[in-house]
Amino acid sequence: MGQMKIGLILGFLGFLFLDGLLLCTAYNVHHYSFILKDTNFTRLCTTKSMFTANGQWPGPTIHVRKGDRAFVNVHNDGDYGVTIHWHGVKQPRNPWSDGPENITQCPIPAGKNFTYEVIFSTEEGTLWWHAHSDWSRATIHGAIVVLPPIGSSYPFSKPYAEHVIVLSEWYNGDVKQIIDYAMATGGDPNISDAYAINGQPGYPNNCSTGTSYRLSVQSGKTYLLRLVSAVMNEEMFFGIAKHNITVVAQDGAYIKPITTSYIMITPGQTMDILLTANQAPSYYYMTATPYFDNSAPFDSTNTSAIIQYTGSYTPPASPPYPSLPNVTDKDAADNFTTRIRSLASAAYPVNVPKKIDTRIIIAVSVNQILCPNSSCSTPTGNRLAASLNNVSFVTPKIDILQAYYRNLGKVFDRDFPNKPPYAFNYTGDVGNNTVYPSQGTKVRVINYGAAVEIVFQGTNVGNAENHPMHLHGFSFYLVGTGYGNYNATTSPKTYNLIDPREVNTIGVPRKGWATIRFIADNPGVWFMHCHLERHASWGMAAAIIVKNGPTKETSIRPPPANLPTCS
Ligand code: C2O
Ligand code: CU
Repeated sequence: MGQMKIGLILGFLGFLFLDGLLLCTAYNVHHYSFILKDTNFTRLCTTKSMFTANGQWPGPTIHVRKGDRAFVNVHNDGDYGVTIHWHGVKQPRNPWSDGPENITQCPIPAGKNFTYEVIFSTEEGTLWWHAHSDWSRATIHGAIVVLPPIGSSYPFSKPYAEHVIVLSEWYNGDVKQIIDYAMATGGDPNISDAYAINGQPGYPNNCSTGTSYRLSVQSGKTYLLRLVSAVMNEEMFFGIAKHNITVVAQDGAYIKPITTSYIMITPGQTMDILLTANQAPSYYYMTATPYFDNSAPFDSTNTSAIIQYTGSYTPPASPPYPSLPNVTDKDAADNFTTRIRSLASAAYPVNVPKKIDTRIIIAVSVNQILCPNSSCSTPTGNRLAASLNNVSFVTPKIDILQAYYRNLGKVFDRDFPNKPPYAFNYTGDVGNNTVYPSQGTKVRVINYGAAVEIVFQGTNVGNAENHPMHLHGFSFYLVGTGYGNYNATTSPKTYNLIDPREVNTIGVPRKGWATIRFIADNPGVWFMHCHLERHASWGMAAAIIVKNGPTKETSIRPPPANLPTCS
């Protein structure tokens, strides 16, 4: 991994006036180089060439401290254009380096390069980066470790060592062909053939037991596992046989420690987990299994790695396997997720908006689009689609950010609805309501500094499912969730405004709702979408535009000189 981090080039000293005090703020600048290229990998006894960063899967880890900056030069040696997104990094005033293809930039063409300036601010913990062009993120992704600033430490005892654990999906086929074929025919994309832990499917997958990822631990020591879910299409349960784990952070923000035998993590989320090696020295499986409560096809396999104690003992012939909740166990998923609370201490305060300026209610649905002569490949002959407020997102040909910044003609519309087109029993018998969405590139424009509340309302339209909704450019407070239809009178009474978690990706419960709040203090164009990749491909997305504030310091930075051009 050494060669991709060119090194800490310089320490930068800046000065900042705050409350009339002259503070000296120091941040470090880091330089990385990612070469995107096709590399051969063999898993499940199948060899294929896949698009990776620096020939690694998962890709290189970025290491910074809170408030640092990273310049990442991305050189595309592949066959088609691609972009990289820094998931959970707010990038204050700097949407130019956020990455989603044709939302904030056009792709880096094959043979070309672009340097991203990744600006860290309040994030601390674990985040990740991934390609943000069609399904390339299946193979182009890696972790971002954000350490506490110099002179500060974790809000828990310093672990003996730290390890990145990336969950992902392995497809025997080429992921670009899989999604291109699904989009051409209108049907469900092929499911993955295995899940993987740090790139290895492990037991009980075909041809995988000898190559499991192994983590060696010393008896009595505590380890920090930085868990990233780069899984494309499923939520996962995760646990370690015979060991409890303690979750201490989510999405780059600390939480009140939760000791548990398992967790549930959605695509896009990250969790920091403490593991104490307090069992008899032996081998133990660390396992992830899908959580899925829907009738669509899904990958029902398990993936595992091995926790291996150091010292001399006879390894067991078959190490203990964790007993994780059943695949459809909604209660188990809820029992874990409802325990998560912000640390909300003096050193890590929460600041939940109480008075709301902008309220948006968004119905989240899976839909159908009619095909000529019922020629698409679902049983009805229709094309699968997905929508927010019954608008199925159409990716424009030129990025929205450039079109907005330079006032270029008609690339997008500013009329993303602030509520569903009409009310019905979203989570009951939905009949034919909003089966067929409209299609468009619609954004919602929000004033700088507004206190924003978004209610995501899951629906039974198409197929009810838990949707991991993700917003770029912010972390937000998840102030409430519930089952059934959101009720403007009774639902807010259940809100937690004291210590809600501050995250960037939340599961909107199947047949339920979730409410988030944030201050729109980051000017720019910010993508919002379901992190189940097939739903995002079908149009379960929209963008928000946060207008500039009154000053230069509250406005979008000028664009970098070397932005890829749109063809
Ligand atoms: Cu993790 Cu729009 O992305
Ligand atoms: Cu979804």
